[in-house]
Amino acid sequence: MSERVARILDEVRKYHQDSQEGRGFIPGVTEIWPSGAVLDEDDRVALVQAALEMRIAAGKLSRKFESAFARRMKRRKAHLTNSGSSANLLAISALTSHLLGERRLRPGDEVITVAASFPTTVNPILQNGLVPVYVDVELGTYNATAERVAEAIGPRTRAIMMAHTLGNPFEATEMARLAQDHDLILIEDSCDAVGSTYDGRPAGTFGDLTTVSFYPAHHLTMGEGGCVLTSNLVLARIVESLRDWGRDCWCEPGESDTCRKRFGYQMGTLPAGYDHKYIFSHIGYNLKSTDLQAALGLTQLDKLDAFCSARRSNWRRLREGLDGLPWLTLPEATPRSDPSWFGFVLTVDPRAPFSRAELVDFLESRKIGTRRLFAGNLTRHPAHAEAPHRVCGDLANSDIVTEHTFWVGVYPGLTEEMIDFMVSSITEFIGSHR
Ligand SMILES: Cc1ncc(COP(=O)(O)O)c(C=O)c1O
Repeated sequence: MSERVARILDEVRKYHQDSQEGRGFIPGVTEIWPSGAVLDEDDRVALVQAALEMRIAAGKLSRKFESAFARRMKRRKAHLTNSGSSANLLAISALTSHLLGERRLRPGDEVITVAASFPTTVNPILQNGLVPVYVDVELGTYNATAERVAEAIGPRTRAIMMAHTLGNPFEATEMARLAQDHDLILIEDSCDAVGSTYDGRPAGTFGDLTTVSFYPAHHLTMGEGGCVLTSNLVLARIVESLRDWGRDCWCEPGESDTCRKRFGYQMGTLPAGYDHKYIFSHIGYNLKSTDLQAALGLTQLDKLDAFCSARRSNWRRLREGLDGLPWLTLPEATPRSDPSWFGFVLTVDPRAPFSRAELVDFLESRKIGTRRLFAGNLTRHPAHAEAPHRVCGDLANSDIVTEHTFWVGVYPGLTEEMIDFMVSSITEFIGSHR
């Protein structure tokens, strides 16, 4: 690094430190966000350094992040994308590739998922002409059980795609066994669950593919960003092709002829020797991210353990502080799991002498941010009600989630003082409604 760059980065470090001064917590005045990015001076320096080097497209930092993150997630391959939603789109689209032969999903095939979820866990199923089969979730864990999924398997069911809800793993060992027994492909949406474990194994290592989001609300951030991970090299190749315009070639930008036969292919009805860089074997997209994002991802990754442990301890403090309060269903970790929590989810008892709206309004009036459990029951949304789908059983709990559930934050930017204020506010509200 040149002396001049070192001087600029030193100044950036000082700028960061100055910008952090005077950030005290005033209960009821300071916003307690439900989620947010925690960015330190290393993050700011990494971004500026990448900008100084004009790393405006995907390149060496992206590749470095992909291999570090794959190692961390215990998968052989990671492919960066521009969002978690794009990662989900790639994961589902990959299942339709001709490279999967007989296992390839065809229009009208079914994918089992949960009704109470984030829309872009489900949308790629529809976008690929497949049919989502909705099952209900349990209250407390907010995941579907393997038993519910087993009941939903029909003659056209080919895959299972579901998220570890708010970081709480679904029964991943059982789900993977079910998938194996019925020759189904399992995709884990781990967008909210980096660092969570089930049966001592990291969430994201049970399925054929897993996806992650790096939006600021998530365990690691790149601003916008996401990732598809797999240990299946055929799926990895398909994901890369779909992400990169559908091309057949796998050379990195700036590379040529890594296969040593760039001008030696004959595919489709193209003339023999047509440049492999421009042969397209999938109907692809461009869902790549940039090195600016990867630069931030790399410094964030160094802090992942600390982030996960702060999330766990914030969750525990809330759980212990609220234990025993009437009218609220408190969250429960799925048995045999150790969640790296995304949020702290609460369901107001439908028979309570107050409504979710009243409790949420009270908390928001104290600057305690709240969020819904995403879409609630997706089948009640205008877009999804009209779209093809099948429902297995009833969606009674998903309806309760839609009408009575919300969550508050546990992200690492929250302090113990803030958590204690959240606890005392909820306790005070319930106390005034006894
Ligand atoms: C479970 C889940 N899946 C997918 C996504 C989409 O991620 P992104 O916002 O990066 O597109 C989110 C976003 O919060 C999510 O919570």
